[in-house]
Amino acid sequence: MVELAARAPGRARAEACANIALSKYWGKSPRGDNLTAVPSLSLTLDGLRTRTEVNFDQAQERDEVWLNGSRLNAEEVQRVVALLDRLRQRAGRSERARVVSQNDFPTAAGLASSASGFAALSLAASSALGLGLDPSALSAEARRCSASAGRSLYGGFVELLAEADSATPLAPVSHWDVAMLVAVVDAGKKPIGSTLGMLHTERTSPLYGGWLTAAPAIHARVRAGVLARDFEQVALGMEQGARLMHATMMTSEPAVLYLRGPTMELMHEISDRRRRGCPEAYTMDAGPNVKVLTEGAHVAEAERFLREFPGVLDVIVCRPGPDAALLSPAGPLASASRGVTS
Ligand code: PMV
Repeated sequence: MVELAARAPGRARAEACANIALSKYWGKSPRGDNLTAVPSLSLTLDGLRTRTEVNFDQAQERDEVWLNGSRLNAEEVQRVVALLDRLRQRAGRSERARVVSQNDFPTAAGLASSASGFAALSLAASSALGLGLDPSALSAEARRCSASAGRSLYGGFVELLAEADSATPLAPVSHWDVAMLVAVVDAGKKPIGSTLGMLHTERTSPLYGGWLTAAPAIHARVRAGVLARDFEQVALGMEQGARLMHATMMTSEPAVLYLRGPTMELMHEISDRRRRGCPEAYTMDAGPNVKVLTEGAHVAEAERFLREFPGVLDVIVCRPGPDAALLSPAGPLASASRGVTS
């Protein structure tokens, strides 16, 4: 469970891990409030962490947000300010905040940095305001900013049902010895963010209705596979879900096209390798990087294959990660830098 120890008033620091969805959400519910149109199931990842410190201060004129050493502009801070406003209102406080956040992985490359970012922010900010929010309430707050962030409050395998206010843990880290390898094929900024991308898809893709119809069954297959530790079931559901989600994006007008050449080459190769017995399965989010699920005993071989693959710039090996947690606000914020952006 999320640690909710009392901290120095006004200031707190938290850490959360990113997550990668094995069954994806793409599309908002017509009920609004950033509720999702379809269910999703994710694995929280140890190798992709965000640390965030929030300091509410009377002397601060406006909310100020720093990410990886750069100050965010007025547009970029909007979702952060919206979250801080909701928490200030809950706490009956008015001080503005200085937020300093550090990712140990490339931002905006389809590596779900908003998930770990908003999960760490909701925990740090609510703690700094002395709000004793439980994990479910924190998950709901994070979900309003970025739906996948609602899942990053919890470790292990996590579910966010369609139109659910908050995510729920499905199975702990110890449930299944698997790993997720992120094959970075392009670490640049993505052409369109996920929120705009999914609204555009809803409006213009003729396949969107088919996605809404098929996604619950794909989710059920992945969920059953995870609970049974059945790699092949998870692989089939996860890959079909990723292909269908990207098919709806690609058939938007104009197209939302995230996949690059090496992404497609890797999809072919991973399918061939699994037919030859390798426990490897692919998925992609709002970006070209390929996330490869594998079993614990196969990590070294999967990493070797990915590192040697043409077009792969880097490989980040992630094991199932823990719940979001408060940290002591002493010492430097940055954890050991991974230097993965080259
Ligand atoms: O968390 P959001 O609202 O930015 O969207 C995330 C969407 C995907 O990563 C593509 C899928 C998912 O379920 O994480």
